[in-house]
Amino acid sequence: MHVEKMSADDFPFAVQLSNTMSWNMTVEDFEFIMKLEPEGCFVLFSGAERLGICTAISFGNLGWIGNLIVKEAYRKEGAGSLLLKQAIAYLRSKQVATIGLYAYPHLTSFYTSFGFKPDIEFLVLQGEPAAFPPEDSTARRAQNSDIQKIIEFDRRFLGADRQKLLEAIILKAENLCYIVPHSNGISGYVAAKVYGADAEVGPLVCLANHVEAAEKLLKTVLSSLRGLNVSVCLPKKEAELLDLLHAAGFREKFRVVRMFLGSALAKKCIYIAESLERG
Ligand SMILES: CC(C)(COP(=O)(O)OP(=O)(O)OC[C@H]1O[C@@H](n2cnc3c(N)ncnc32)[C@H](O)[C@@H]1OP(=O)(O)O)[C@@H](O)C(=O)NCCC(=O)NCCS
Repeated sequence: MHVEKMSADDFPFAVQLSNTMSWNMTVEDFEFIMKLEPEGCFVLFSGAERLGICTAISFGNLGWIGNLIVKEAYRKEGAGSLLLKQAIAYLRSKQVATIGLYAYPHLTSFYTSFGFKPDIEFLVLQGEPAAFPPEDSTARRAQNSDIQKIIEFDRRFLGADRQKLLEAIILKAENLCYIVPHSNGISGYVAAKVYGADAEVGPLVCLANHVEAAEKLLKTVLSSLRGLNVSVCLPKKEAELLDLLHAAGFREKFRVVRMFLGSALAKKCIYIAESLERG
């Protein structure tokens, strides 16, 4: 078995394999992550046969691993470990200090054997939001002149520089981004990616003691996504946001555990994941 860097020729395999897990991945998803991290996506081969994939992305001192999957017939033979080791080595070569990932609960011991430590539990919810009744919302649509503010705010609370990811999301016309202004800066922001009839909320980052601002951001973005099939991945401990999502008809699909190799990040803020594969 050997690992190669992913190329566009591998996309049909990557999509087909990842969708055996209902991850809802498309060629565009792999194009997007390859554009952000051209050297960080990997395919495992046995001779000419493709067996598995894994993606990694670096944000300065933080790296994130996702899309780890091996063809069912080849599992438990070390293939998954080879891919994970490759992704870790790649991120180390980018000088990241901490590597994060979201693990299915039954796989935490697999990742623990590589030194990852469980952090907190996240829930993935799905629903088709209706519009929330209009209220005096202080959340407003982000403008291009807000992007730098958002990137700096995100860096302050996440402890990593997600400029390349945030710009790619916010500047895409179909996507949404809202902020809650606060004195000279912001007290939080939310983005959502729209893919035709589907959408994914995230990231949302908000000051820890500003739950109302986080609720406003979530209501505002969900109202704009009404009628779409929307998914959200958020910490189980965010009770107010979970209540809001349940009241909007969202239902839990599955749970994951955030794990870190290195110091845990994004501790002192309200946080909704950008995606499972990028944190
Ligand atoms: C997770 C996955 C990539 C592991 O790949 P793999 O090729 O089976 O992994 P390895 O053979 O390197 O296994 C390494 C260790 O993890 C353990 N392990 C692997 N899959 C496991 C599972 N489903 N449950 C519990 N332990 C598991 C193995 O027993 C092995 O331990 P050992 O060396 O002590 O025997 C593979 O099971 C897979 O593709 N699963 C479906 C997709 C998925 O869940 N991805 C992970 C998202 S968090």
